[in-house]
Amino acid sequence: MSSNEENDTNPAEEATTAAPSSESTEAAPATPEDTVPAAGKAGRRPLIAGNWKLNAGGADGCDLAIAIARSAADREEVEVVVAPPFTAIAAVANELYNKKSDVGVAGQNVYFEESGAFTGEISPSMLRTAGANWVILGHSERRQLFGETDELVAKKLVAANAGGLKCIVCVGETLDQREAGQTLDVIRTQVSAVLPELARSVGDSVIAYEPVWAIGTGKVASPEDAQEVHAAIRQLLADADAELADQTRVLYGGSVKANNAEGLLSQPDIDGALVGGASLEAEGFGKIIDIAAKLVRQGKNS
Ligand code: 13P
Repeated sequence: MSSNEENDTNPAEEATTAAPSSESTEAAPATPEDTVPAAGKAGRRPLIAGNWKLNAGGADGCDLAIAIARSAADREEVEVVVAPPFTAIAAVANELYNKKSDVGVAGQNVYFEESGAFTGEISPSMLRTAGANWVILGHSERRQLFGETDELVAKKLVAANAGGLKCIVCVGETLDQREAGQTLDVIRTQVSAVLPELARSVGDSVIAYEPVWAIGTGKVASPEDAQEVHAAIRQLLADADAELADQTRVLYGGSVKANNAEGLLSQPDIDGALVGGASLEAEGFGKIIDIAAKLVRQGKNS
């Protein structure tokens, strides 16, 4: 059953009336997670998210979302989210609602203040009002090009959770850091900054491991290398709280495509993918969703 069949309220309209207060996580509209049983023993339903970056911000975004919704239909084993630019979020959310699609909508960024003199920023409640139920935080492009620090990402995570948004928190090392053997130190520092809030809201957020050298380069991490870092992230979570480690989905991102997704998604600690370039083309993105669904049916995580 789709969330729309269960709840006839347009998520965007409902979010408009939801109080953007610290309790408003309870006011979040029904999501696929609410309506579809989680897959596998660990309850980690795979998540395939498309980060459109600075693309498809108008009518082209609506067309893309409709095509992706078609690919995602009847793939309830997998949660699917798209992250359009701010300008397309409301239109995309409406299109998905009208098509009775379970595909979720994410912002690519959010500010930690709710309102005020912050030119150019968007608040969690604004994203909710526009129809988003997710947000990507701390993407390496925001860290590298816009100076986002671990502290800022942690503040945004607290504010976004309080505003009823689920978060995809990105971590990852640069090529220099990998070559200097610092990968796990970098990851530990980035994850530690958000760990208190992750532990406070177990399972609400997702971590995306995106090695910076693999983003937009066509150089994908090998499944074994990715799994090693994912296992290290899972261990960091376990050191804080066993349930947190069990419930938190850890996605891989960086040049994921239909032709390399299976090896990555087969790894025990890789619970989905954050896809950039390949999410701009519905057919290829649909194939990645199909692969994730097939792996669940074959018993991954069970
Ligand atoms: P690519 O899939 O284009 O490498 O981008 C990955 C990414 O940055 C997703 O957030």
